[in-house]
Amino acid sequence: MSAPKKLHIKTYGCQMNVYDSERMAEAMGPEGYEVTDRPEEADLILLNTCHIREKAAEKVYSDLGRLRPLREANPNLKIGVAGCVAQAEGAEIMARQPLVDLIVGPQTYHRLPAMMRKVDAGEKALDTEMPEEDKFDLLPKLRSAARPTAFLTVQEGCDKFCAFCVVPYTRGAEVSRPVERLLGEARDLVARGVREITLLGQNVNGYHGAGPDGRTWSLADLIWALDGIEGLARIRFTTSHPNDMSDDLIAAHGRCAKLMPYLHLPVQSGSDRILKAMNRKHTAAEYLAILERLRAVRPDLAMSGDFIVGFPGETEADFEATMDLVRQVHYAAAYSFRYSARPGTPAAEKEDVPQDIAVERLHRLQTLITQQQHETQNAMVGRETEVLFEKAGRNPGQLIGKSEYLQAVHADAPDTLLGQVARVRIVEAKTNSLAGVLI
Ligand code: SAH
Ligand code: SF4
Ligand code: F3S
Repeated sequence: MSAPKKLHIKTYGCQMNVYDSERMAEAMGPEGYEVTDRPEEADLILLNTCHIREKAAEKVYSDLGRLRPLREANPNLKIGVAGCVAQAEGAEIMARQPLVDLIVGPQTYHRLPAMMRKVDAGEKALDTEMPEEDKFDLLPKLRSAARPTAFLTVQEGCDKFCAFCVVPYTRGAEVSRPVERLLGEARDLVARGVREITLLGQNVNGYHGAGPDGRTWSLADLIWALDGIEGLARIRFTTSHPNDMSDDLIAAHGRCAKLMPYLHLPVQSGSDRILKAMNRKHTAAEYLAILERLRAVRPDLAMSGDFIVGFPGETEADFEATMDLVRQVHYAAAYSFRYSARPGTPAAEKEDVPQDIAVERLHRLQTLITQQQHETQNAMVGRETEVLFEKAGRNPGQLIGKSEYLQAVHADAPDTLLGQVARVRIVEAKTNSLAGVLI
């Protein structure tokens, strides 16, 4: 046996890329690769990239430039680009950046081992197909689990074609994985110590997978089946679209004890005019009505969302409608972005809002969201919550975990509580964490 080779993966973008990075590492394990978090000792570096905004995509080129000294120090170092930038601009990257040996899209990374053999033979390899075969079928079955929480991709791709978004082009059409496979993967994770599973999909609540009974299962059906897995303590899912928030899923939020009371439901804008231009196919009132139904069954539900500011044609009144919606919802957390025109999307043809105006609006929105986040954190003080402890804290004797509402909580606790859910009383709130004591 030769010494193991080292693989370093840098992950950009969404949780789906985090999941894919883990699966790529698992695919390369049998090829003799061990994961390292130090790029300077790697034999293979993969950048798993994101194309969602211009800044994210541009970063790949600057990061590639930064790898040049590593290649000079180690001429055998191989460099690959994976993910959504690879899918969208793979051939161009290959042409522009001689450092790159390999380009692999999000739907073909099960072919990485074969591609690497080509690279090791001195060739370049590029594969950005959207093949018929299911990559998950061809990836190693056994998942590695080093933490008590894990991601599980249940659905990929998107058919919604929001006017600003590249995902339908980089990830392809919506595909749901069959129920049996997902339950198998989930049981395997739980057997390896995982206590919390977050179901992933670009439109996760649009899940419609082939069930073992021949029926098409909804996300709620899948959640109820996962609920029956002994040892699994918590279920989460992300990211959802308002139009797929079905009755059975809303009901599950009220009845399924393992389903955590936190929902990421992006709305993007509070203006109906802008929502229409974005091709979101729902109004602000419809979004708020869904929330009302959710809070009727689960009053403590913590909400998070995504917002785009400065979409082409956004007026001050449109923006104020967004601010109003945020005030009505009161978010526990929310992500807001300045609109970024993406090549090939319909909105890219339209005229941008002047940059200084968009920057100023983004600032106002983020100030409001931060204030709501502080209020949510402060409201936890004195309350009891359940915490799943995930890892050691900064101070000796301390563990860190997550509350039901996805807040980071640290508390003095014995190591035996790692991977366990324990009741904690919150005694102090900071912006990004809570301090608690075990009850
Ligand atoms: N599938 C999810 C979101 C995927 S992208 C959904 O439908 O909500 C994550 C977030 O990035 C989006 O919610 C949106 O707020 C933001 N985003 C996507 N395209 C963008 C663009 N062109 N400019 C700025 N933000 C964008
Ligand atoms: Fe993009 Fe819209 Fe699909 Fe979300 S629903 S991935 S924002 S096209
Ligand atoms: Fe980015 Fe691709 Fe995810 S564009 S947000 S990494 S699906």
